[in-house]
Amino acid sequence: MAGTGVFAELVDGDGVFKYYSYGEWKKSCSGKSVPIINPTTRQPHFKVQACTQEEVDKLMEEAKTAQKSWAKTPLWKRAELLHKAAALLKEHKVPIADCLVKEIAKPSKDAATEAVRSGDLVSYCAEEGVRILGEGKFLVSDSFPGNERTKYCLTSKIPLGVILAIPPFNYPVNLAVSKIAPALIAGNSIVLKPPTQGAVAALHMVHCFHLAGFPEGLISCVTGKGSEIGDFLTMHPIVNCISFTGGDTGISISKKVGMIPLQMELGGKDACIILEDADLDLAASNIVKGGFSYSGQRCTAVKVVLVMESVANAVVEKVKAKVAKLTVGPPEDDCDITPVVTESSANFIEGLVMDAKQKGATFCQEYKREGNLIWPLLLDNVRPDMRIAWEEPFGPVLPVIRITSAEEGIHHCNASNFGLQGCVFTRDINKAILISDAMETGTVQINSAPARGPDHFPFQGLKDSGIGSQGITNSINMMTKIKTTVINLPTPSYTMG
Ligand code: G3H
Repeated sequence: MAGTGVFAELVDGDGVFKYYSYGEWKKSCSGKSVPIINPTTRQPHFKVQACTQEEVDKLMEEAKTAQKSWAKTPLWKRAELLHKAAALLKEHKVPIADCLVKEIAKPSKDAATEAVRSGDLVSYCAEEGVRILGEGKFLVSDSFPGNERTKYCLTSKIPLGVILAIPPFNYPVNLAVSKIAPALIAGNSIVLKPPTQGAVAALHMVHCFHLAGFPEGLISCVTGKGSEIGDFLTMHPIVNCISFTGGDTGISISKKVGMIPLQMELGGKDACIILEDADLDLAASNIVKGGFSYSGQRCTAVKVVLVMESVANAVVEKVKAKVAKLTVGPPEDDCDITPVVTESSANFIEGLVMDAKQKGATFCQEYKREGNLIWPLLLDNVRPDMRIAWEEPFGPVLPVIRITSAEEGIHHCNASNFGLQGCVFTRDINKAILISDAMETGTVQINSAPARGPDHFPFQGLKDSGIGSQGITNSINMMTKIKTTVINLPTPSYTMG
């Protein structure tokens, strides 16, 4: 149960979850709270503190001070604490999963997987940090014309300072630790602003870091309304780097912030191109897994199927048969399709469906919705004039566009303003490589659905899908800067064989 056992100190006397600052769980002096609506019942389930700008200011100052000592903490000690936090995350996977079920309607098994995957990510990050931060470069001057060997250049990676981490609702724990762990191992401090839906799961995750014994002020977690503290956080002068995953808000953040490094992942319209020679059963399984896992609420979900006309009927029939087997219902029952996160999301998805209906798409299933629960829907014969051909539903609705050449599929993929991932199904590896190279996306999966993991793989989007590359190694590197020290010798010195 959320907020019980070792997590009891997270809740105040009024049942509101506290925020985390300077190693303590605190009530906001605003006296206000923000409700978290359970997507399944559509009733308020949890409440979190509505923090004030003054409270943000204070924890930013604390983060700045704590970072200075943390940067002096030996790398192996930083790694040791991260390993402790990882173990605690796994140990407490049940209450964390319980929050994910109630806050974001994540199916119960997937919710537990998120907690375990997060522990694994933190451990891997600790190890990778020890490997890559423990070594630097040594350059000598005589490789550049006009120089003798009188300068030795030593390079090392140093922390950026205070990292602001803003994860999205769909992975409030995993996409939080994918920012927190690299930041910490690299010697940074962290200020976390979790999404409102998912905030309580994130607070439980933060408590695992608290129990691991990280220094006071190094990690803070602030909750509240984006309208009150959002801009204040992102434009705060103490922040040295922002790692954000989410939607269009990322674009407006990038326009407002100053000269600080940004890591952004802002969604996708991942295309799945299916050629005539594809293994159609494999393609159909991946379309269903890629399109409908967590009810399509993944940035890496398959969001448009581009299938060659000659095999389109067969693919659509196979997908229809698999969709018919998906279970639909509450996350507590571990159903495949669960309610989408908010009523406004459900309304948006419905708008895309109605637009497709009006413009003549073929409905492979009857459209059905109860509250936030939308039954899985495959829309065949979608044309480029339909909104669903381009927009990201972030729900269990998948359009199929029939194509007559691979070039047509590539063209549709590249005409999108997004460029996160894509996939191609074919038995011809040469064609797969040509198509992969031609697709303007950060990653192309050959014969599998798009996915971010394993979490140490590089993960990046082109165009409106993001800035920079993630994945454990890239995130650690991104949260550091290079420092060089040059040793100047009075006379050239050469190492002899
Ligand atoms: O929603 C965005 C996530 O980065 C997707 O992660 O591919 O593991 O579901 P995933």
